[in-house]
Amino acid sequence: MKVSIIGTGYVGLTTGVALAELGNDIILVDVIPEKLRSIQGGQAPFYEPGVNELLSKHVGNGRIRTSLDTQASVMDTEITFISVGTPSREDGSMNDEYILSASNDIGKALASKDSFHVVVMKSTVVPGTTTGKIKPTLVASSNKQVGIDIGIAMCPEFLREGAAMHDSLNPDRVVIGCEDDGTFDILSGLFEPLGSKVLRTSPTSAEMIKYASNSLLATKISYANEISRICEAVGVDVYEIMEGVGMDFRISPQFLRAGVGFGGSCFPKDVSALMHIAKDLDLKTPILDGVMENNRIQPRHLVSMAERSVGPLEGLRIGVLGLAFKPDTDDIRETRSLPLIQELLRKGALVCANDPKAMDNFREIMQDIDYMEDPNAIVDGSDVIFLMTEWPEYRSIDWGSKEHLKGVFDGRRTVDPGQMKNLKYWSMGKPLAQ
Ligand code: UDX
Ligand code: UDX
Repeated sequence: MKVSIIGTGYVGLTTGVALAELGNDIILVDVIPEKLRSIQGGQAPFYEPGVNELLSKHVGNGRIRTSLDTQASVMDTEITFISVGTPSREDGSMNDEYILSASNDIGKALASKDSFHVVVMKSTVVPGTTTGKIKPTLVASSNKQVGIDIGIAMCPEFLREGAAMHDSLNPDRVVIGCEDDGTFDILSGLFEPLGSKVLRTSPTSAEMIKYASNSLLATKISYANEISRICEAVGVDVYEIMEGVGMDFRISPQFLRAGVGFGGSCFPKDVSALMHIAKDLDLKTPILDGVMENNRIQPRHLVSMAERSVGPLEGLRIGVLGLAFKPDTDDIRETRSLPLIQELLRKGALVCANDPKAMDNFREIMQDIDYMEDPNAIVDGSDVIFLMTEWPEYRSIDWGSKEHLKGVFDGRRTVDPGQMKNLKYWSMGKPLAQ
């Protein structure tokens, strides 16, 4: 089928590449010309394993084209996905400015289109947005009838950064939230080659499934982190505990890795948005409040455990290894390294940082620390090290020869404790003396 995708961030671009791989013709639309130039040259504007290979393949064979023109792209296709950003406002509510402006442009094009066209909301939006905001905007600007001239659906995206291509091509489920059978048939046909389970719901349920899924995953992590602090004090290793817990098939071992907390563009934003929705409805959210509070605690907890171990950090040279919110990405959105570094600076430490992919992005939000390309050089010049992103590069440092270090504090189980025998090494979720 012919598909246009408005917004070429992680979600839009990987969706487009996956749909091209399934044999569809794709037009990727964005407002930023440099992004489109990069895509046209076979390079994603962000680092994501596996995307560039497939992108080059499909730009080369003509299945992927790019455009700055939303209306022309809609005219030229049968289905349009909306995947522009839905950032959080200061108060945690969702900013719907971009999705509404995209919907308005799509509607204007549909006004002069004769064939049935499906518009799919792919960005994460608060429950009720597709039916209550997107639909009226599309109808007002197109003057078309939903279910007869146009179809409207909400299909949430569940991909993980760093594994985006794999997740787009092998989803556990495809959720299609729509009101009419024609739209459902077109979309289930589009996704059929994936061979995944399909769940049909209303658009509002599809929107809520995304928030409820991400909030539950964030809850699992915060739960593991809360248990982790208790394990440290009780004298056991939280990884062993969660191995035992996760063997129960009702729980599963996934997302129980305790550490310095969750970052990224989804968990913090989606949990905050859900809390905001509930607050507007005069509902209390003690679980979600605790999930966010636990996430705030973890970086400070890591610093305070380091202080317990090596004494005051004031004046010490501290190396922070890892700035991306997880490995295999250059994304720093909501990375736990930011509150950690802010806490270290507040304590009067001198901070130098490294990341294999995310240093340029981090430099944009923090200028008052040093950056070094070589993690070995940072380790050599530091008194204390914090490991914040479990990049494999940090495992190949010759830790055995770094006996000058006062301590190494691992927020992510980055290195093998066997490598650290001669050092004072502590990873979160273990008793401090271990
Ligand atoms: C974003 C949201 O964060 C997520 O909640 C949602 O599910 C999908 O969109 P992501 O793809 O990671 O996820 O966002 P981002 O990298 O910010 O990409 C959005 C793209 O839309 C950018 O390339 C931006 O230039 C483009 N855009 C934005 C438009 O094309 N038009 C606009 O009006 C606004
Ligand atoms: C997440 C969801 O997994 C995905 O389904 C959704 O579409 C977008 O949000 P993403 O943010 O890309 O994906 O990464 P994910 O692998 O889920 O990790 C998020 C954060 O949680 C990272 O900071 C990671 O380090 C942390 N995490 C993850 C833990 O601390 N412990 C875990 O057990 C798992």
